[in-house]
Order: sequence, then C-alpha cells, then structure tokens
Amino acid sequence: MSAAHRLVPHQLVPAPWSFSAGSGELELDADTTLGADPELHGPRRWLARALGAATGWDVDPASASEAGIRLLFDPTLGAEAYSLEVSDAVVIFAGGAAGAFYGAQTLLQLMGPAALRQAPVAADASWSVPRVSVEDKPRFGYRGTMLDVARHFMPKDNVLRFIEVMAMHKLNVLHLHLTDDQGWRIQINRYPKLTEIGAWRRESSLGSWRAGVFDGRPHGGFYTQDDLREIVAFAADRHITVIPEIDVPGHSQAAIAAYPELGAAPAGSSAPVEVWTRWGINETVLEVSETSLEFYRNVLDEVVEIFPSPWISLGGDEVPMTQWQASPHARATAVELGLDDVSGLHSWFVGQLAQHLKHHGRATSVWDEIGDGGLPDGALVASWRGYEGGIDALKKGYDVVMCPEHKLYLDHRQADGDGEPIPVGFVTTLQAVYEFEPLPGVDAAELPGRLLGAQANIWSEHLDSPRRVQFAAFPRLSAISEVFWSKPESRDYHEFLTRLTGAHLARLEAMGVEYRPLAGPAPWQQRPGVEGWKRDYDAEQLVRN
Ligand code: ACM
Repeated sequence: MSAAHRLVPHQLVPAPWSFSAGSGELELDADTTLGADPELHGPRRWLARALGAATGWDVDPASASEAGIRLLFDPTLGAEAYSLEVSDAVVIFAGGAAGAFYGAQTLLQLMGPAALRQAPVAADASWSVPRVSVEDKPRFGYRGTMLDVARHFMPKDNVLRFIEVMAMHKLNVLHLHLTDDQGWRIQINRYPKLTEIGAWRRESSLGSWRAGVFDGRPHGGFYTQDDLREIVAFAADRHITVIPEIDVPGHSQAAIAAYPELGAAPAGSSAPVEVWTRWGINETVLEVSETSLEFYRNVLDEVVEIFPSPWISLGGDEVPMTQWQASPHARATAVELGLDDVSGLHSWFVGQLAQHLKHHGRATSVWDEIGDGGLPDGALVASWRGYEGGIDALKKGYDVVMCPEHKLYLDHRQADGDGEPIPVGFVTTLQAVYEFEPLPGVDAAELPGRLLGAQANIWSEHLDSPRRVQFAAFPRLSAISEVFWSKPESRDYHEFLTRLTGAHLARLEAMGVEYRPLAGPAPWQQRPGVEGWKRDYDAEQLVRN
C-alpha cells in the first residue's frame, strides 16, 4: 500500500477515549497469526474472516499468548471496553466479546481503507499498523439507528451491508421499522395475507405527497422469517441487537388492507382500504377490539420467536382519534374501561400488547406519545417529538433513548437550497448532528430513569432505494457515531472533518457506501424537479407529514 494511504491514529472514527502514538509501524503479513482467550472466540472468528477477506491470507490460529494478533480477556474492563497496544504484536485486551470486537474494528481502521474491502486489490500489498496505544469504551450503551423498511422495502442483502457499516462505526442497535400504513415486511405464518397483500404498494408519491403527483410504479417486498433470523444472527455476530417494530394502533393500514376486520372505520362508511399510497398522518387505525388484540398477540408470538432482543417495539406514534370517536365499539370500550374519552384507548391498547410481551419476558419500546396516556411497565421510550417526552419518562423512572426529530432524523435535508434530492424536513447538517447532545442542560443522572443512549432515525418515504438511504445516512451517521461513542469534552467539528476527509470517507468508499459528498450531491444523486417539503424548525409546530 502506498504511503499516501497510510493512516495516522487520530483518524479513527469514532474517536477513541484515549490514544497515544508510538514511533514506527508493525508490519503484518501472511504469516501473522491470530489467537484469542476462550471468552473472545466470537470476535476472533469475525476478525479472521474480515482480515482474511481483505488481505487474502489464511490468518492461522495460534495460542492467545503467542499470536501476532492477540485478543485477551480482562474482566476488570467493562464488557464493551478494550485497550489496543501495537508494539511487536497487536494486543487487544477486552472486558467481553463486544469490547474485543470493537478493538478488532479499530485495528482494521488503523490498517487503512483497503482493510475494509472484501477481497485484496493488490497482490503485493504490504500491510502495517502504526504503533499506538488506545484505551476505549462507549459513552452510551444504546447506540442506535432506525431503518424504515416499511415505506420502501430494503432488500435483505442491503440490510446486511448496512449492518456491516454500522458495525464499523461501533453502533449497536438496529431498530427495524417493519410495519406501517405503506407496507408490512415480516412474514407471519398464521396470517399470510399480511405479506401477500400488505407487502405491496400500488404506487407512491413522486416527491412530497403535497405536490399531488403519483408515480404509478408498484413496489414492495418482505422478509421471510428465515431472512430475519439471518439478519438477527449476522447483526449479533457484530454485537448489534435488532429491535423489531410492529407499529400499533395507528400506522396499520397495510395490515387492515390485508385483514379488514382489524379496522375501526364504521361498517359501510368507507371504501375498502388498500396499502396506503400516500404518506402522512393517517386516520385509518385499528379497532380496539378483542379481534385486533388477539390478532396482534398471535403476530407477536411469532415475532418473539425470531428476535431475541430484550425490547420489542409496539410503535404507538401518531394516532388520530377520528375513527374511534365515530366508532360505537370504541366509545363503548372507553366507557367500560372508565376512560374520560376515546383518547385513553391509545395507551390502553398498547398496554394490553405490552403485557403479552411481558409474559414472553420482553420489554416494550414505544414512541413517546404513549407517555401522554400511560406507559407500560418497564417501557423503553424513544423520544422523537423533541426532548420533553424523554425528560418526562426519565422523571417517571423509565428507560429512554433520545431521537428528537429536529436533530436526528436523517431523511431530513442535509443542506438548505434546492440542490438536495427531494428536500424535506428541517435542515440537518453534518455539523448539526455532530454537535447533537441527547439531553442538553439536563443531568440525566439526577433523574430516576435511565438515559440508555440515542438513535438516528431514517424514514424512507423519500428514500426509494438503498442508494438513497446511503446518501441520507452517510457521512452524518459517521458523525453521530462519535456523539454516541466518544468523550463529549473532546468533540471538535473541525478536527472531526480532518479525520473524515483524511481517512474516513475513504473507508466508506472502500465499503461501497454512496455517501453525500461534503460539497453537495453528485449529479446522479440529484432529483431535479421532484418536489420536497421544506420546513423551518418551530418548537411549537412539530407536525411531520
Ligand atoms: C415518528 O417519527 N412518527 C416516530
């Protein structure tokens, strides 16, 4: 590899908590061996494969104490913490398999972008690692990304690749938004019409639905249960937990299109619903009946078999009351339950399913609207409508993940002006996400709940392909990984930019990620003439459709 491609240690992303540079480099070659303590065999296997793919070496095993690359268990470190010392060998001490995995990721970053390729590109490449000493650990235990695969389906291969790129950034939670008005993406054996009917969308808007232009192009797709098991196992190998979301009782039109008896529209009051072609807040909601509850309990029985995650998300966002107000059944149920009005049915319905999840030993994750009614026991609250929902939940003793829309929604435009493809939402620049703080001015440690971390959300109504998702996600997610992982006091945007341009964009390129260039979209990333919907941030007016 040419000297121009060699990296210096400060070009790691996310930045480690501490490092010092020694002098010179350690050469690695086809005779370099890899050994690990028994606790760290998972990351050893992963590193042997990654290193072997990029270099073409066999990467033979050796004893942990003698190998050229050593993964050593140190129970005094946290499970996700590691230290990496490059002298005459590469020695990674880790408190657990996750820490060793992050140490392995750091090693690959230190070896240069070509170490992230899937096959060698030069037969005579020489590989070296700068002599450094790194001590590292995550700031937050929950470092999440939400992918909306409901509005536009993302094929399995692209999800696997997305996970690989997340892992390079030491992110550890993938929240998969699997169901919505516009699509149902998970095979449920008991209810085959969910995917026969619910996984296909007749067409969608070209740009913002407000422009009133539809494209006449059917699209869709779904994951079989084995596809999802593969995604879960692939993610677990990279220390990423996959949280599935089955969104209720709003955002359910695809399920209602498949099984109309789930709906709350009074009989004969409306035409049969189809998988929604539009986007926005939808008045079509589930009826609060035993039929719907039983249906979703059965769905969840299959979901928990696929996803070992401690949390299952029941969504619970954006539920208009119109249909329940008009439904004699919903009104009668509200009276029976002693609720003031039908609005109380929202958190009641989610609470019923949360109890079912509890029987399965799982906690429920919800969007923060549920906090307006009552939160299920042990809920994890994803605070998207700003900071307040998260702060309220922390005050009440719940676990919280911050993902405020005006800060961490990556479908939102990356720059002002008309040059962004389908510019929607608030201007959310690379610098703005880099400077994000989950709870500015609040000391979470003072509150009874636990701030587990934060999450970037990628909604896909305006991202109709994996290429568009990559454009929206990167490099902003690279910047965000540093907010979630690195020492907050050391954050410096201009210094980050030197690492980004000096090394990290090259890593993304080596991984085949079509990120947004810092100077603006490449010609093929533009969508001239396709209307977006630009919004200016107004804390009083967080309406998002
Ligand atoms: C959301 O953005 N509706 C969670």
